[in-house]
Amino acid sequence: MDIYTMNSFDPDLIIESPGRINLIGEHTDYNMGYVLPTAINKKITFRFRKNKSEHICKVYSKDFDKSLTIDLRKVVRSITEWENYVLGVINEIQKLTDELRGFDCTLESTVPLGSGVSSSAALECGMAFGLNQLFNLGLSESDIVALSQKAEHTFVGTQCGIMDQFASVMSREDHVILLDCNTLEHEYIPINLEPYKIVLLNTHVSHNLASSEYNTRKMECEQGVAILKKKYDTVGTLRDATLEMLKTVKDEMDNTIYKRCMFIIEENERVMAMTKALKENDLKTAGKILYDGHSGLSELYEISCPESDFLVNFSKGIPGVLGARQMGGGFGGCTINLVHEDVVDDYIRAISAVYYEEFGLRLTSFEGFPSKGTSIIYKK
Ligand code: GLA
Repeated sequence: MDIYTMNSFDPDLIIESPGRINLIGEHTDYNMGYVLPTAINKKITFRFRKNKSEHICKVYSKDFDKSLTIDLRKVVRSITEWENYVLGVINEIQKLTDELRGFDCTLESTVPLGSGVSSSAALECGMAFGLNQLFNLGLSESDIVALSQKAEHTFVGTQCGIMDQFASVMSREDHVILLDCNTLEHEYIPINLEPYKIVLLNTHVSHNLASSEYNTRKMECEQGVAILKKKYDTVGTLRDATLEMLKTVKDEMDNTIYKRCMFIIEENERVMAMTKALKENDLKTAGKILYDGHSGLSELYEISCPESDFLVNFSKGIPGVLGARQMGGGFGGCTINLVHEDVVDDYIRAISAVYYEEFGLRLTSFEGFPSKGTSIIYKK
């Protein structure tokens, strides 16, 4: 694949699109609630150029050393997962405009895959953002966010919420976004954690189950809403419900549905509490909210796994660690930890050793720096 040799590829456009972290607010997005994410300094770099073709596009992934040829007249789902993110985005763009023409693109990523930091949104949003620039499609940032989310629904099959795509595109350096997933109203909250750091620990547990379980959780929440609605006509989604309301319908609900709803209602409250803690620079409270969030997603939403539980429990005994929880869609990925800068190295050393002893898996770690969203690095 000569033309894709990274050195010889002369791009018209270079785009960087980041992964994201989420301080708190898991699975609240598709329940129309609140989230507190931001982009991080791990990103996918896209090099684009128009080719002379009307319909033929080539996309090369350096990390997989695989390329994909697309005929714009026949964009269909693939059996290869990463290809569906690209194809899904092209398919959604074609619903909005007929201005797409042949292009070549190379991808190179520092976002760890399947680790709860949304390499998928980075890929979708970078592709959409880049094609918008390359062909002057006139799409707005909100169009890019929305079509990228839709691509995941239609071509990948995960009924995801809006958080990841919103964070990937809209983030600002040194801020987290308090996002209302119902109205998309948002506020940029400055984040200064000094002398603490955001440490991400990658469990390296693959979350294959995540997509089907994810869709199941979404359905369970909808079942909860249907029961709540019968009694309270103000409840359109779980963001409208309170714990008091939920308790009054407990006997009409399967216990699993009850636990799912309870988690979402409490998780929305935690987003508000975390926002307040950040504004007041109350990092001790911020850390406690992380631990509480983890208990909820482990016991009520049941999307944790032994590896994540182990890491979070171990962290509780370490001085200088204020809080920890599993982050993202569930069943592994990364934990997010709030750790004093003086103990970061010792903490990582100690937790990696016990983790290896317990599971035979090597932890990897990195620091999460709140960073800006998808952007143009170069344009001819
Ligand atoms: C995945 C989804 C998001 C969100 C998180 C859980 O990352 O893509 O929409 O639901 O899981 O908070």
